Amino acid sequence: MQSDASPKEQFSISVFGLGYVGSVVAALLASRGHKVIGVDVIQSKVDAMNAGEATFHEPGLAELTSGAHRAKLLRATTDTAEAIAGTDISLVCVGTPSTAAGSLDLAFVEEVTGNIGAALRAKSTRHHLIYRSTMLPGSTRGLVDTHLKDLVDDLKLQVFFYPEFLRQGTAVKDMIEPSLSVVGSYDPEVDISAIRKIFDASTEQTDLESAELIKYACNAFHAAKVSFANEIGRISKGIGVDAVNVMRVICQDTRLNISPYYLRPGTPFGGSCLPKDVSALNHLSRSRALSTPMLDSLLASNEDHMDHLTEMVETAASPRVLLLGLSFKEQTDDLRGSAAFELATRLLLKNYDVGIYDPLIVPANFTGAVGRIASLRLPNLTSLLKSDLAAALREKDTIVVFNRCADVSHLAEHLAPRHKIIDVASWPELASLSASYTGICW
Ligand SMILES: NC(=O)c1ccc[n+]([C@@H]2O[C@H](COP(=O)([O-])OP(=O)(O)OC[C@H]3O[C@@H](n4cnc5c(N)ncnc54)[C@H](O)[C@@H]3O)[C@@H](O)[C@H]2O)c1
Repeated sequence: MQSDASPKEQFSISVFGLGYVGSVVAALLASRGHKVIGVDVIQSKVDAMNAGEATFHEPGLAELTSGAHRAKLLRATTDTAEAIAGTDISLVCVGTPSTAAGSLDLAFVEEVTGNIGAALRAKSTRHHLIYRSTMLPGSTRGLVDTHLKDLVDDLKLQVFFYPEFLRQGTAVKDMIEPSLSVVGSYDPEVDISAIRKIFDASTEQTDLESAELIKYACNAFHAAKVSFANEIGRISKGIGVDAVNVMRVICQDTRLNISPYYLRPGTPFGGSCLPKDVSALNHLSRSRALSTPMLDSLLASNEDHMDHLTEMVETAASPRVLLLGLSFKEQTDDLRGSAAFELATRLLLKNYDVGIYDPLIVPANFTGAVGRIASLRLPNLTSLLKSDLAAALREKDTIVVFNRCADVSHLAEHLAPRHKIIDVASWPELASLSASYTGICW
């Protein structure tokens, strides 16, 4: 299989670890015209690459490997120093397995990093080191601090974390057209144009820890999707409906279901539907003895998020709190399942002096369930509501922002350095106001 045409710029690249990831990376980059040296501690893998052969089945890999070998662009060695001396860029693709206790085992990455560091000290030219092995946030920085700090400080080495998103079985295709491309850099100012040229022009740049977390978040998301589909599948079978068809129809909604919607950290979920319907579904599973631990955990997870927000307000250490927004989301006056409403009741029980600014909330207009909830759980709501934002800000110290019910220029005019903003609404302009600012998850 031939991939893209020859590169405009040719790089010399060493790839450490010739497993499922490293073999594909090495063969693909060589097929693009780069000079690649593979490195592994297993002699048989090195011998196979030097013979132009793939050591495992992966569609397209055998053709890429033999083609790159024939073009004399791909070879392998067990000798780290030789590979480092002959290349300008190194990719680390060694395994990062689980320990017996389930934690991350970095032994292979530690070893290979130590070897690369020693080889780099014997070299005079500048080098780029790119970790592709999956590692928890903080790992790359820890490896630099332990093994490579002198080289980084002397500007002999640039370090990156560039997670790999390929899937076995479609690895070559995934590498040619990555589903996602993000690189974390040790030096936040560094130019990543070489990485964009080698791999993917659309590569995003972040700090190391974000890139490391993004890889884990992606895999956790994939695992959550599989578990979700399987739990909906068990419920479907339990009540005698076709799970495949149910999930097929669910996936047709690309506005709310298969989309970025509901994927922004911020307020706990609420409203008249989500908590009620999750609760009913949980009862259905229990009544049919169907095991759905992930779906059963949703309300508890939401409650934890509510506790986290309450603790943030308590940590702000002022009894005078103003809530901006009371409804469960913007552009509605519905209080059912509202996190702001829940926070108000929690704080009042703890004798906080609570004020609420939300021009859409008019208790005289409440009817039905909203009126019942308000009179039952927040009977003094009318006295808490403030119509004059400037006066309310003067009275309070902690400002919890649930929605954009106020004008940012109005807030800028009346906020002072003594105010502490807790942003639940993901409203970035608030961070530039004269008050102190913290987000619920940022
Ligand atoms: N397999 C996948 O589908 C996949 C996808 C994305 C990311 N990842 C991640 O990529 C990394 C590699 O995964 P893999 O499946 O290719 O692992 P693997 O176990 O197949 O290969 C790892 C290779 O590293 C070699 N190695 C170990 N120590 C070495 C050293 N000191 N010097 C040189 N080589 C050494 C091993 O001999 C082995 O050949 C892991 O962190 C994994 O989580 C894997």
